[in-house]
Amino acid sequence: MQTQILVDEAIEALNSQIDDTAIIACSGGIDSSVAAVLAHKAVGSLLHCVYVDTGLMRKGESKEVSEMFSEMGIELKVVNASERFFQNLEGVTDPEAKRKVIGEQFIRVFEEEQGECGAKYLVQGTIAPDWIESGGGERDVIKSHHNVGGLPDDVGMTIVEPLREFYKDEVREMARELGIQSSERQPFPGPGLAVRVLGEVTPERVESCREACHIVETRIREAASLGRCDLPWQYFAALLPVRSVGVHGDVRVHGETIVVRAVTSLDGMSARYSPISHEILAEISTEITNSLKGQVNRVVYDITHKPPGTIEWE
Ligand code: XMP
Repeated sequence: MQTQILVDEAIEALNSQIDDTAIIACSGGIDSSVAAVLAHKAVGSLLHCVYVDTGLMRKGESKEVSEMFSEMGIELKVVNASERFFQNLEGVTDPEAKRKVIGEQFIRVFEEEQGECGAKYLVQGTIAPDWIESGGGERDVIKSHHNVGGLPDDVGMTIVEPLREFYKDEVREMARELGIQSSERQPFPGPGLAVRVLGEVTPERVESCREACHIVETRIREAASLGRCDLPWQYFAALLPVRSVGVHGDVRVHGETIVVRAVTSLDGMSARYSPISHEILAEISTEITNSLKGQVNRVVYDITHKPPGTIEWE
């Protein structure tokens, strides 16, 4: 009931804020999906939903997102921009610089889309932790979340953020209330796999990370459904630019490292690492090193809480 009121109030507020064409970037994640559905309910066809394929998404994600929007009866334009993202990320290794590049490219793609549809408003799925951790108020910048810190000043549209005051658990409730399929999906960062590929973001390294993330997600979900572990709040892999010596058959390999991360949390502001059993971790490790032969020859498990760590590695 409480959530229903929040949803109704958000739709009403959007309705009075937006009086012309609006555009929203839909990633398929909970935050942008809730913002898109709220805005679509508020202003209907004034809203243009755009999905940017950055080349940094999870396995099968672009297809799933298209299908999800089509089932909700909302038109979604898919823009393939992966080439420009990779070009601009060439040689960039600093985590903050990566986030800025991605945020900037996002907005450039949007300017082009805005040019086409003449949008005056940019709707964003920013939630409270995004701006708090981006240095909102008196706080230090922990990470520039791409939908905040990467925004240039000259965006040229009025920004509308219907979820700005909400935390993840509240947004999940709203998603359920709105019947959004992705409401049970785990969170995924705006800059995508770029912040899970430490060091340079190349198509090849992203592909390795994507495959490892897929294995971690599939195996942990499967183990949880069989009652072998609790389903963590978030679980994924990151690729580290740390090379170690390994062996495949008789051949020496100097491969990179995958770190597996699984945490329990309520809203992402703090988290505890999940005590996944060694047996499950060993299965994941074997599958990753088999699938990524020659590229990855070592798998480690992250046992750091937040704080002092953050959930993502960058
Ligand atoms: P950290 O790594 O800061 O992450 O502990 C907290 C939660 O936020 C997600 N995350 C992001 N979400 N844009 C987002 O929309 C971002 O730039 C971003 N960076 C991290 C992260 O996956 C975790 O759920």
